Amino acid sequence: MIASQTATFPQGAVAVLTIDNPPVNGIGSGVRVALGKALEEAIANPMIKGIVLTGSGSFFSCGADIREFNTPKSRQEPSLRAIIEQLENSPKPTVAAIHGAALGGGLELALGCHYRIAQAKSSFGLPEVKLGILPGAGGTQRLPRLIGIGPALEMVAGGDSIDASQAQSLGLIERLVQTDLVSQACELALEASIRTEGLPRLSRAPIGATADSKVFDEARKLAGRRYRGCIAPLECIACVEKTLTFDLDEGLAFERERFQFLVNGDQSKAQRHLFFAERAAMKPPKVEAELTPIRKVGIVGAGTMGTGIAMSIANAGISVVMIERDQAGLDHGWEVIKGNYASSLSRGKLSDSDVKARLALISRSLDYAALADVDLVIEAAFEDMGVKKEIFSRLDAVCKPDTILASNTSRLDINDLAASTSRPSKVIGTHFFSPANVMRLLEVVQGTRTATDVIGSLFAFARKLGKIPVLVGVCDGFVGNRMVSPYTREAHFLLEEGATPEQVDSALRRFGMAMGPLQMGDMAGLDISWAARKRMAPTRPAHIRYSKVADTICELGRLGQKTGAGFYRYESGSRTPISDPAIDVLIAECAREAGVERREITDVEIIQRTMYALVNEGARILQEGIAQRASDIDVIYVAGYGFPAFRGGPMFYADTVGLAEVLATIERFHDRHGELWAPAPLLKELVENGRSFADL
Ligand code: 3HC
Repeated sequence: MIASQTATFPQGAVAVLTIDNPPVNGIGSGVRVALGKALEEAIANPMIKGIVLTGSGSFFSCGADIREFNTPKSRQEPSLRAIIEQLENSPKPTVAAIHGAALGGGLELALGCHYRIAQAKSSFGLPEVKLGILPGAGGTQRLPRLIGIGPALEMVAGGDSIDASQAQSLGLIERLVQTDLVSQACELALEASIRTEGLPRLSRAPIGATADSKVFDEARKLAGRRYRGCIAPLECIACVEKTLTFDLDEGLAFERERFQFLVNGDQSKAQRHLFFAERAAMKPPKVEAELTPIRKVGIVGAGTMGTGIAMSIANAGISVVMIERDQAGLDHGWEVIKGNYASSLSRGKLSDSDVKARLALISRSLDYAALADVDLVIEAAFEDMGVKKEIFSRLDAVCKPDTILASNTSRLDINDLAASTSRPSKVIGTHFFSPANVMRLLEVVQGTRTATDVIGSLFAFARKLGKIPVLVGVCDGFVGNRMVSPYTREAHFLLEEGATPEQVDSALRRFGMAMGPLQMGDMAGLDISWAARKRMAPTRPAHIRYSKVADTICELGRLGQKTGAGFYRYESGSRTPISDPAIDVLIAECAREAGVERREITDVEIIQRTMYALVNEGARILQEGIAQRASDIDVIYVAGYGFPAFRGGPMFYADTVGLAEVLATIERFHDRHGELWAPAPLLKELVENGRSFADL
């Protein structure tokens, strides 16, 4: 775990301690024990003049081993803090030689060293806040003493990494080198060993210019926007603030106590669950055949989805050709793309040359022949099976035999589409989320005949685009939208039973959702789900409860924000929902017609009715094999539907509440509201066996 070597120079010998714990040199209990021992030996050895700490493989170290948190291993001595103290108190100079990345506890180790030297392509960060914790090995106390309160606050509470040149200009590292990192670190250690002045120890460094309290207020506001509902950023800020009044020991004790509070709390468990859930979801299936390299992509449809998808592909440096039925449609799509890039330019997100390069990658055509040489086509046309089938048969005729044909449908049957081509094994679903150039989630829909290499190729392509691909099976709405149906169904029932749209939405926002279901409907456009309900109307059993609220709103031409009214009304040009008494009257009328008795609705009922509807449907989806893992559903809901990360996704949330309690409530709803609430067999089975979704 720690390779210890002695490097001999004319001026003396240096101990080079290399952390060797692939893949990211995580600092688990084994590394701590070995490092503590190697340090002790190097300090005791009279031949050794200085100590260099470095990492093997691609990184210096990416921090504590997250898997060990909340296990006995995390309490095994020595602690990371003790090792950092050992480095800092060493009478011999200690130098961190950093390449790749120094993150979290890895950066904290480097802060314990007297000097830091790094390779030009390295990065530095304290991403703990993204895991619902804070840097617990002195990072909140030492970093402000090194680079100042403002920049340290940004790194600790924001969690983003900085590159080596930023690190150098902030004074985080002493030297930046192109080559021979370790030998230059050894030379630095030897130089320091003969200097007469004492070694620089951050624990003794005074805190720089005292920060105005406004800095902390601003940081709290920013954290509220960026990490909605999360407590970790506020704790991070509180720790940094303590550097103003506490000495290092007091500060470290405070940091330790707040770290323990966070690491044992539900929020951080949820965020760590998501860290591993995302990585599990993004692993492609094992593939024997060769993957198709995607060098050029065709997009059919230059509407909202088509243009967003085209931009996300061009952003990854891949060529795209956009196809439309008529010139007006193509021109409109092109204007939208240019407008979006112009806005990125004006906000300083992209440079002029970036914008030019991206626009140059997007070509346009009215002729399907332009798709003859593409490796992948993504159809993003109108959500109608007839329209899509016709497009797929044209694509089948014009594209190379090995071109992958994908549909961006959010609900329709991929198997049906595949059957309309001569290459069903090359047909797949790619359900992007709007705005497609921003949202990272991608549901990759596997048809019954989709080949595994096609799935593998799509996963590799998605990762190039910076997306989170999650494999799902075919059913109406796949995972995400299928679960949205019972979620919004319950929201509409709650309206009939006595809640107002604001009450439903605000209860769910307080729960942590980015937006309530009714506001979300208005934003997405109510006509989309209206069309789906009309499509399903002929097969809907008459005895099952059905709310006409949304249909009645649509019949009035209130299709959401785009028409200035839906569940709410909107001032011209504004997206802020305003309560509309006309809707309260409409809801009361629908309830009267349906014979629903109106009553007081509590926030608790709103949360349980909507959340447990998600969970029950999620359990069915799992049992049917539409999702591979409960954690995939969590990733879909957090990345695509504004579900709060600090609750870990709907299935993790259910585990947190306890499945027995969730089932008991669902059974109560079943008795009261009828068969739509029949408990999912998998949920019953798990409760009977005392298991959770995490155990699956
Ligand atoms: N602990 C345990 N496992 C880790 C880990 C960590 N800190 N960091 C990464 N891994 C695992 C991943 O789960 C993955 O495992 P798998 O192959 O079994 O799925 C494997 O390492 C490779 O990770 P990625 O797939 O993410 O590889 P990338 O090359 O894409 O990214 C990375 C590398 C940027 C280091 C990214 O993994 C990352 O951001 N890791 C987390 C870094 C972090 O948050 N550090 C702080 C830890 S908490 C801490 O240090 C507390 C301290 O203050 C006391």
